[in-house]
Amino acid sequence: MNEEEKDTYRRGEFARKGEVILREHEYDGIQEFDQKLPNWWLFTFYGAIVFFFGMWFVYYTLGLVQSDQERITKAVSAVNEKKSAALADTLSNLTDSVLVHEWATDESKVKAGEAIYLQVCIACHGPNMDAPTKLALSLVDQEWKYGNAPLDIFKLINNGTPPESKGMEPSGARMMPFGQSFSPEEIASITAFIISKNKEDFKDY
Ligand code: HEC
Repeated sequence: MNEEEKDTYRRGEFARKGEVILREHEYDGIQEFDQKLPNWWLFTFYGAIVFFFGMWFVYYTLGLVQSDQERITKAVSAVNEKKSAALADTLSNLTDSVLVHEWATDESKVKAGEAIYLQVCIACHGPNMDAPTKLALSLVDQEWKYGNAPLDIFKLINNGTPPESKGMEPSGARMMPFGQSFSPEEIASITAFIISKNKEDFKDY
């Protein structure tokens, strides 16, 4: 019997007697078992390997299952499509004159816009809309940096400071696009609220 055979035999003997096999080395008083891994454990281990190849094939070769990333990208572009459709729909009925004479004179729309103003815009534009902290531009100074027309105001709120603009002087502060947080109707009602506070500026539309 060579060494290897002896070793195998020894292991068999141990196993038959139900004894544990200890390896010979010892470090800092710590010894190591030399046991065969239990079958249930090996089963889950090899099972996981087989499962991996199965899933790999299904995901990458057959393309049967969509990854989370693909599902999210699809869902986001569906939402974006819906939003641009809603925006196009709202804009098709919305003219400067409609904003001034229908939206800005409609109590409930102006109130809805004011509620949003008090919730978010007030932080930079201030309670009296005159931007006292200079974090933003005044909305009651008769100056409209990005266009005097009601729809220009709508677009600025929806899209934020245009990309080609440097923002405010001298801080470079820009307006963020609120079209991401509010529906086109909500943006229109905020615009209506701003118009209602600047009746003189918009009376000719
Ligand atoms: C975090 C600060 C901040 C908040 C919040 C904010 N704005 Fe602004 N807003 C700015 C800045 C900065 C400018 C100037 C941007 C520029 O010059 O490009 C600006 C400019 C504007 C202008 C153009 C003013 C002009 O005189 O031409 C309008 C209109 C406007 N904001 C409306 C709103 C509305 C409506 C809200 C709320 C939905 C809002 N803003 C919320 C920072 C803010």
